[in-house]
Amino acid sequence: MANTKTKQPRHFLSLLDLSSDELRSLVARASELKKMQHAGEIHEPLKNQTLGMIFEKSSTRTRVSFETGMTQLGGHALFLSPRDTQLDRGEPIEDSARVMSRMVDCIMIRTFEHEKVDLFAANSRVPVINALTDLLHPCQLIADMQTYFEHRGDIKGKTVTWVGDGNNMCNSYINAARQFDFKLNIACPEGYDPITEIMDPAGDRCQIIRDPMEAAAGSDLVVTDVWASMGQEEEQAKREKAFAIYQVNDDVMAQANNDALFMHCLPAHRGEEVSASVIDRPDSVVWDEAENRLHSQKALLEMLLC
Ligand code: CP
Ligand code: NVA
Repeated sequence: MANTKTKQPRHFLSLLDLSSDELRSLVARASELKKMQHAGEIHEPLKNQTLGMIFEKSSTRTRVSFETGMTQLGGHALFLSPRDTQLDRGEPIEDSARVMSRMVDCIMIRTFEHEKVDLFAANSRVPVINALTDLLHPCQLIADMQTYFEHRGDIKGKTVTWVGDGNNMCNSYINAARQFDFKLNIACPEGYDPITEIMDPAGDRCQIIRDPMEAAAGSDLVVTDVWASMGQEEEQAKREKAFAIYQVNDDVMAQANNDALFMHCLPAHRGEEVSASVIDRPDSVVWDEAENRLHSQKALLEMLLC
């Protein structure tokens, strides 16, 4: 198993690590796996395989979906908190990657600096999955795309509006716009733009429109995220001021197309980045979006490990 592997592992650190066709297949497979699971069909291609899960930040959805997904695929998941491993006591990332990847079959990491997952992957014999860094959250995007496809069909040529911080989720939406070929309007306050290294290669697919009402006009999907991400807690008060008009509420949704969807990776703060009236609508798809983390990551594990 893990220590007999000789070929170079395939990692998933960014949406750009897979081709557009591969991402589309992944989304289709996620919907297939969802149907199979809902029908009670047992599908265990990962028997005897172990996923190591390193969490340096909190998580509900990511931990529960990866752990449950491995169980459903017939494998096992190992929760590794830096507090209880040697990672917090200064063992180098490179050494940890070399050691863990001789034992487990895949490693999932949620951390702060993106460079850490790059370094880990460069020293790993097995696939490494980025489960969120300060820069990117690609696993959330495959679930979001699956959710859009399931509710509205292909997202190619559609218009998506991002309202809020130019953060890890926004960066991942920019990469998704390139890979799935949709138009992305970004409504963020000055000083909170996504970084140019991510923005520039997307060309004219992505544009910044400061006014959220103007940005949402004619959109097929409106997305937001918290104003202060994990690690930015001390900036909460400053950000509340900067983002005061960047709330997705009924007025913003009224600018979008009639059948526009609203998405949020969760956890959400009602009354801040989204009003309760928008997130709690009876037809809100945020719960499908959260569930799809399970199915889309099962499709990802299958693609990387089978
Ligand atoms: N959306 C998401 O990644 O949620 P968690 O932080 O709960 O894992
Ligand atoms: N931008 C948020 C996403 C949480 C899933 C954060 O990084 O905290």
